[in-house]
Amino acid sequence: MILKRSLLVPLAVFLVSALALLATVLLLLPGPQPSASKVPIGGPFRLTSHEGKAFTDEDLKGKPFAVFFGFTHCPEVCPTTLYDLTQDLEALGKDADRMRVAFITVDPAQDTPELMKTYLGSFDPRIVGLTGTEEEIAAVAKAYKVYYRKVPTESGYTMDHTATILLMDSRGEFYGTSNFQESQEVRREKLRKLVRNG
Ligand code: NI
Repeated sequence: MILKRSLLVPLAVFLVSALALLATVLLLLPGPQPSASKVPIGGPFRLTSHEGKAFTDEDLKGKPFAVFFGFTHCPEVCPTTLYDLTQDLEALGKDADRMRVAFITVDPAQDTPELMKTYLGSFDPRIVGLTGTEEEIAAVAKAYKVYYRKVPTESGYTMDHTATILLMDSRGEFYGTSNFQESQEVRREKLRKLVRNG
């Protein structure tokens, strides 16, 4: 095919425009997930399960997992979140067995393994409760970038704490988050994705 000289300029302009458009589209497309290992959330820990047994990060790895920090005396956020997660695990059906859920106390002074076991009796039995010494809890909270603080009250104290569910992949690396009061649909979709891709 022979192009007339008069067509060459419009053709060149068209090609450049098309390439620019293609480049823009490629930039806007969701690319491969950035390497999860670059987000410094999570890491090794050593705690005690609600069954009174040693429990480390290695016990969570191998499957993707969700971690939530809280305490058994929490008036609202923790029971709501654990109830939501219980419902989510049921909704996930068989997929629920392809992930793990851990509830780590930020109030180890009160949350003994025994108390956590009793407390978790109201929720999905697959949720593992974790406690430890003040130092162990401080270390795991630091690793997961979770904030908590003891707040005095008239009757004693309560705990202020991060209410985010941390989603971790099967290698124990950060995968994403689910924030408190996020809609059920959004949270479940995140959990499904975690099970499928994490
Ligand atoms: Ni709470």
